[in-house]
Amino acid sequence: MPNQGFLISFEGGEGSGKSTQIVRLRDKLTQAGKDVIVLREPGGTAISEQIREIVLSAKNVGIAFTTEVLLFQAARAQIYRELVLPSLEVGKIVLMDRTRDSSVVYQGMVRGFGKELIEQLNDISTKNTVPDLTILLDVPVEIGLKRQMDNGGANRFEMEDASFHERVRQAYLELAKSQPDRWKIVDASLPVDDVDIQVWAEVSAKLGL
Ligand code: TYD
Repeated sequence: MPNQGFLISFEGGEGSGKSTQIVRLRDKLTQAGKDVIVLREPGGTAISEQIREIVLSAKNVGIAFTTEVLLFQAARAQIYRELVLPSLEVGKIVLMDRTRDSSVVYQGMVRGFGKELIEQLNDISTKNTVPDLTILLDVPVEIGLKRQMDNGGANRFEMEDASFHERVRQAYLELAKSQPDRWKIVDASLPVDDVDIQVWAEVSAKLGL
């Protein structure tokens, strides 16, 4: 029987602290005796990491938008076949730093490719897999960009202006509010430990821990 495991995704704009929170959640779940795997998109497998390099490189300003859309999907198709679906099939908890909803927000809603079209591609890439729980780490744009700056290094998306990031934030909030059963919105402007407490409350409630 497929999907015995549990898929939890983290979504949010730049500097929302997804990677920090995912590591903390992984440690807590492991302590609770769960078998956990942490993955990120785009990337997470040797092939997907090569695609990541192409799609995010600041050098590739000339990339066509359709190419960008399809490269994110290509990276996704690979990680689902190689790791996500096999892990779910053996009952693991899969924690993902971004997945299909990033394409819905960035390419579908903000850049205007269209939500429906992206969802059709997402269904192909993921073999119709939707996260069981999605945590939106919501943070005001000024705070997120400042954190990102402090961490150094800008990819093609981080080089966008503040209004782009504001549209990303609003698109995430709209999407999350339209599917409240799956999405939980966490205030990520709070100190890391407080965010951690909120994340754990949502996850432990959903998993019955
Ligand atoms: P990354 O360096 O992983 O940043 P973050 O810490 O914000 O996750 O860069 C991933 C970037 O790719 C991010 O700006 C969002 C973008 N992205 C899309 O536009 N579409 C997608 O489908 C995915 C997975 C990511």
